[in-house]
Amino acid sequence: MYKLLQLLSDGRFHSGAELGASLGVTRAAVWKRLRLLEKSFPVPLERVSGKGYRLASPLSLLDEAGLSSVLRPLGWSLFLYEEADSTNAEALRLLQRLVTPSFVVVAESQTAGRGRRGRQWSSPPALNLYCSFVLQIEDGGRHLPGMSLVVGLAVVDALRKMGVSGVGLKWPNDVYVGGKKVAGILLELTGDPADQCHVVIGIGINVNMMDSGGEGIGQPWVSLRSVLGRCVDRNELLGCLALSLSGYIERHMAEGFAALRAEWESLNVWQGLVCRLSAGPQDVVGRMLGVDDHGALCLDVGGHVRAFSGGELSLRLEHDS
Ligand code: ATP
Ligand code: BTN
Repeated sequence: MYKLLQLLSDGRFHSGAELGASLGVTRAAVWKRLRLLEKSFPVPLERVSGKGYRLASPLSLLDEAGLSSVLRPLGWSLFLYEEADSTNAEALRLLQRLVTPSFVVVAESQTAGRGRRGRQWSSPPALNLYCSFVLQIEDGGRHLPGMSLVVGLAVVDALRKMGVSGVGLKWPNDVYVGGKKVAGILLELTGDPADQCHVVIGIGINVNMMDSGGEGIGQPWVSLRSVLGRCVDRNELLGCLALSLSGYIERHMAEGFAALRAEWESLNVWQGLVCRLSAGPQDVVGRMLGVDDHGALCLDVGGHVRAFSGGELSLRLEHDS
């Protein structure tokens, strides 16, 4: 299926005979694969008699050699898959098999892309970016607080470099454009979080996905293609992201989150607004003050400043805000 996508990715017409010859299969087998593609792939397939088949719009597929040559000088080795259950899950398996960080796992599609608290991340093939950057951390107690927020800064920086404006962050880990979610971040840890550990930085960015492909997403979302009005080169985006991430992580390691706090607050989509925080059995409602020097969320609750941190927290805008 992926080979077929590669052949069709230029958006030009290809005859059944030509596709069969390239794939080394009969025309009947080509036809079967095209039917399958038509059913499962979000970009429509067009058929014109006498010309053959083409995708309604061209695709930018991931290029292993090109990506490696961008990532290697930054110290990241690449594991690229046509399909993974979840790049975070695969990264954790590679760590178990003693693959040494720093490395990046990237997949053209995910069958079980995950968000926080067991939620699903919609991951159709060949359209978006699904990647997990793996790092070894010494002295996690000092270097982990605020890291998820720093990754958000790196994603915003990369998107801006690709020409996107109006990007904002929702505490702790969502990236928004125009009030809609464009990217999500999921950090997972192995080892001792207070000492030596490995962190898997999972990032999903909606790149070229249009309406079809995003069915079933339970909240407003947007893709770079719809914002920029053009198909985005995912190789270029991943290169930009790796560069931004390396820079921000280096700064975070050297100076701590406090040095990046003001920048994060300047991007906070709900700064100064009244929010509702689901924190276990009880919700807390308060005015968003920003974050503290460790990346904890600060709310003014009835005149008292309260700080919140932890993976189980979920923030919503209160209606009267
Ligand atoms: P919070 O974590 O603060 O509750 P959230 O509602 O965004 O925020 P997350 O767990 O961070 O929840 O993200 C997972 C959610 O993202 C899913 O419930 C789903 O609605 C949504 N989602 C899934 N795939 C995508 C996608 N490709 N683009 C945008 N949103 C998506
Ligand atoms: C969220 O908003 O809840 C986080 C979504 C994170 C999705 C990315 S896609 C690459 C990596 N692999 C996963 O299974 N999840 C993250």
